[in-house]
Amino acid sequence: MSELQKSGASAQRAAIVGTGSYAPARVMTNADFEKIVDTTDEWITTRTGIKERHFAAEDEATSDMAAEAARRALQAAGAAADEVEMIVVATITPDMPFPNTACLVQEKIGARKAFCFDIEAACSGFVYAAEIARRFVEGGALRTALVIGAEKMSSMIDWKDRSTCVLFGDGAGAAVIQPSRDGRGIRGAVLHSDGSLGELLMVPGGGSRAPASHESVDKGLHFLKMQGREVFKYAVNNMTAAALEVLEKTGLKKDQIACVIPHQANHRIIKAVADRVGIPLERFFINVDRYGNTSAASVIIALDEAVRSGRVRPGDLVMFLVFGGGFTWGAMVLEWSG
Ligand code: ACO
Repeated sequence: MSELQKSGASAQRAAIVGTGSYAPARVMTNADFEKIVDTTDEWITTRTGIKERHFAAEDEATSDMAAEAARRALQAAGAAADEVEMIVVATITPDMPFPNTACLVQEKIGARKAFCFDIEAACSGFVYAAEIARRFVEGGALRTALVIGAEKMSSMIDWKDRSTCVLFGDGAGAAVIQPSRDGRGIRGAVLHSDGSLGELLMVPGGGSRAPASHESVDKGLHFLKMQGREVFKYAVNNMTAAALEVLEKTGLKKDQIACVIPHQANHRIIKAVADRVGIPLERFFINVDRYGNTSAASVIIALDEAVRSGRVRPGDLVMFLVFGGGFTWGAMVLEWSG
């Protein structure tokens, strides 16, 4: 019996075989925000845990950041761009309504064989996209998928709204997903949505409901709107439920999880989830202090940092936990193969 069969792993199990991330050069600290809105470093730090965030240059779009993260992920995976058969970009800040961001990335990195599409599940987008790619790879339809979470949140921030402008940042992360080489890889995922709560976190303008017009701009409809307290409550409850559900589904116990990678929106949300799930906060990877909330990019930037810094090692069980607008939420467990 082969090692693979002994481990009970399917020959077709899909694995993340390389990650990469990109953060734009410009860094804005809480002190910088003190100069543009009525806020303080102390308020932002105690309410959110955020100290600084990266913002893209004016001429730097989501696909530029995504392409750089993708190049780094391919390099880490030892894969060439022309091996990539599928590119999925999770984003709520595409360069434009169409062509999709994944097609723009394809062109930039030269992945000529790939078919390309975007998915939009706000801050949960990366896990949704990874689950789609996993199914294609596990089913044998393709061998190499590139999954990217990328956002230019600064393009939808209302710089006059102190309750939201301090929360977000720009960046991109990417993962190469292939059939597992060693039986390790993605163990399972749960995905959920509740469209009845969409109005609590949204950008109302710019789509077919309220297309761009002088009036839509005057009314600020292209800016992100959020009812923070409500979002906070649902984020904690749903991320907690998803963590417990994915453990049940994969037959794993809490103490087997070496590293939880939660959506990086707010330190207080992460702490409340850790308390409720019953996994010590020390096992949560947190970088919200340096990035703010990068929406769909958040958990894959975090995994890339965790892997490169040695915090996640081969054989570690890692849990993604996500929540975002829609509402959308979910969890995924994988065994890191490195
Ligand atoms: N600086 C100073 N004061 C501020 C700021 C600021 N940047 N922002 C808001 N305030 C003030 C408010 O005006 C309010 O003042 P008032 O009492 O005089 O009216 C006071 O602070 C309290 O405001 P709340 O919104 O009730 O503050 P809260 O403690 O709820 O914290 C926050 C706000 C940080 C947004 C919190 O609700 C939160 O973290 N929510 C989660 C939402 C989130 O992270 N969303 C990200 C997208 S969704 C996701 O990714 C999961």
